[in-house]
Amino acid sequence: SIPGSVKIVEVGPRDGLQNEKDIVPTTIKVELIKMLVASGLPVVEATSFVSPKWVPQLADAKDVLEALQNVDSARLPVLTPNLKGFEAAIAAGAKEVAIFASASESFSKANINCSIEDSLARYRDVVLAAQKLSVPVRGYISCVVGCPVEGAIPPSQVAHVAKELYAMGCSEISLGDTIGVGTPGVILPHAILLAELILYCLMIPVFGGSVIPMLEAVTDVVPVEKLAVHFHDTYGQALSNILASLQMGISIVDSSVSGLGGCPYAKGASGNVATEDVVYMLNGLGVSTGVDLVKLMLAGDFICKFLGRQSGSKTATALGKI
Ligand code: HMG
Ligand code: MG
Repeated sequence: SIPGSVKIVEVGPRDGLQNEKDIVPTTIKVELIKMLVASGLPVVEATSFVSPKWVPQLADAKDVLEALQNVDSARLPVLTPNLKGFEAAIAAGAKEVAIFASASESFSKANINCSIEDSLARYRDVVLAAQKLSVPVRGYISCVVGCPVEGAIPPSQVAHVAKELYAMGCSEISLGDTIGVGTPGVILPHAILLAELILYCLMIPVFGGSVIPMLEAVTDVVPVEKLAVHFHDTYGQALSNILASLQMGISIVDSSVSGLGGCPYAKGASGNVATEDVVYMLNGLGVSTGVDLVKLMLAGDFICKFLGRQSGSKTATALGKI
């Protein structure tokens, strides 16, 4: 069985835009977020308080958040990699934040310039500061099935980071298949590692892993209702992985309007699964989301026209032709 309702966490304005080379004006970002909120999305991740040298696109985080002070029908969390980012986010009016760890040592270094353990120590300080202000903290874990450098990631490694984030007080843990390599298969990780080694020797790059053993390992240490799934759709596996996750009791799904996005520190990673496609599938499954697909498509159309790009959503493309 699958949950009767799903909470969609829209990450387009953050995960979607962070990889865009040309700077999107603040007013466009604000308008996009308002349109997404108007579609009924309960959570819209608005921006990141990260180093502008690392992610120039989101250097206007303060202005974006300040322009959204009157929006109260959705939660608008922001990414904060350290106390400096947390303090800036709170000063700009953030009521909810997210920290982002990795299950891969190499990706941690590439993305936030420190080891997994050092990042967890840094995040403990952020969570402590947030708890003093009663600000909820979402914890992301990247590379939960595969890493662009290390290949398949053992589920136990993901469970370890999930347990730490949960123990430090994260209100929700989002499991990110950053490079979209996961499948809903049931192959055991050691079999993947062996297969990968063989393929590596044959110079065939396959980094796949399965989301199922990963979710099994994580649900052993964190209650399933606290978990979210975050699939990038690089290999076209996201919707199947979401369905497999729902069947395992997950009821929080991250997605990005029009499938915008990628990660600047994960070469070749494409956007998140498109929110329109997730809503279309959930509607078909009879799972309620509170999202109005037509209004959501208007938001997708708005940002795609601005970027001069076709939508990455199959649903939006199909319905746009009718
Ligand atoms: P660092 O260079 O090691 O930091 O970066 P540092 O502490 O040595 O400071 C260097 C400079 O950055 C200093 O400025 C700091 O003040 C400044 P300088 O003295 O050189 O002028 N600085 C900051 N400025 C603004 N806001 C801050 C901040 N912190 C330091 N918060 C750091 C470490 C973590 C800051 C950097 O690596 C960074 O910003 N990384 C962010 C990378 C990022 O945003 N990646 C994308 C998001 S994660 C993702 O997409 C995955 C996810 O979607 C899930 C999935 O798909 O798997 C969540
Ligand atoms: Mg992501």
